[in-house]
Amino acid sequence: MYKSESKFRLAALASLCLAASLLSVNSFADKFEHLAMTPPMGWNSWNHFGCNVDEKMIKATADMMVKSGMKDAGYEYVNIDDCWHGERDANGRIQPDPKHFPSGMKALADYVHKKGLKLGIYSDAGWTTCAGKPGSRGYEFIDAKTYAEWGIDYVKYDWCATDGLKAEGAYMTMSKAVKEAGRPMILSICEWGDNKPWNWAAPLGQLWRTTGDIYACFDCEYDHGTWSSWGVLQILDMQDGLRKFAGPGHWNDPDMMEVGNGMTLAEDRAHFSMWAMLAAPLIAGNDLRNMSKETTALLTNKAVIAVDQDALGIQGFKYEAEDGVEVWFKPLVNDEWAMAVLNRNNHDTKFEFRWRHKAVKDELTKRSIDFNADEYSWQDLWDKDNSGSTKDFLKIKMERHSVFMVRLTPKAKDAK
Ligand code: GLA
Repeated sequence: MYKSESKFRLAALASLCLAASLLSVNSFADKFEHLAMTPPMGWNSWNHFGCNVDEKMIKATADMMVKSGMKDAGYEYVNIDDCWHGERDANGRIQPDPKHFPSGMKALADYVHKKGLKLGIYSDAGWTTCAGKPGSRGYEFIDAKTYAEWGIDYVKYDWCATDGLKAEGAYMTMSKAVKEAGRPMILSICEWGDNKPWNWAAPLGQLWRTTGDIYACFDCEYDHGTWSSWGVLQILDMQDGLRKFAGPGHWNDPDMMEVGNGMTLAEDRAHFSMWAMLAAPLIAGNDLRNMSKETTALLTNKAVIAVDQDALGIQGFKYEAEDGVEVWFKPLVNDEWAMAVLNRNNHDTKFEFRWRHKAVKDELTKRSIDFNADEYSWQDLWDKDNSGSTKDFLKIKMERHSVFMVRLTPKAKDAK
């Protein structure tokens, strides 16, 4: 009796151990650790160029990333999106389109690496990409190996033509393929938030899209018939409830930026600032070869970038909203905070903030500010001549679709 009971216990223990080891294999799947400890920064071809990609343009973009000061400001990845593909060869190995990439991807990666930058590429978990090029379905391991041999550093992996596939499994396969290929490549999961990737993608990749595609407008829905793309405000609102899933090495991705693609300067600033408040990947999507001085200055604003890239990696949150004006906070290292005031209205407005009457409590990170007890100095991140203290009222005029963004430093520290 005793013997068989202990046998039973042993068997139960053994199967428990097996289940636990299987579980841990699953939950710590295959990704390279220590990649993207702050949100990735770079550029991607899709928002401006769509399918018109070629090696000349990619090289010129890498040149401009250095010349414009973007590289110095932290931008690193030059990412080719859809439509670089040619055919698979007799061994199933994908080839770049020979007309647009005649020198091949290895040569392009070498060029980009010589500039101190990294090269990203795009594929799709389905049979074809969204533009109808060959997808990686059935070729995951050979594709990841090919990318690694070319010297690719970042793989964006899309979700078109995937009928019958399960997202978590499909992305796990590519994650394993990337790991097996042996080169630390970021895996950017792009299934538009359809399968709630925040619940399962952190062990598989470094970032996951939370929404459908962005569109270069501040406040609109662009209806394509069977699907829509979204303006900045629409995408911002879709981030609600997701901050707890993000952190170093695993980020919510509200899509690539539309800065410099036709919105007003104030709208571009608001877009960029809110992406920084969200600790979002900062992937520019404009034509770097032809950007205005204003766009260059905007994309290289180091004070705003520092908010995005803060080492704590805590996504910001909405603190209050009234009459179309929102106030957001984001905890930063050394007890500093970023604050952004966003005028969503289609008209100019006035905004007042009585600091001393306010207390901020972040339930998620247990960080808080009591402005009545503690004084902070603030520095305007878009106007370096503008600063102040939280002991005074804040009274500002705001243009339509604009942002006011500051960094708050505890006064005692400030004085040191
Ligand atoms: C999808 C993605 C976009 C882009 C295109 C390319 O729509 O969400 O970001 O990669 O495909 O076809």
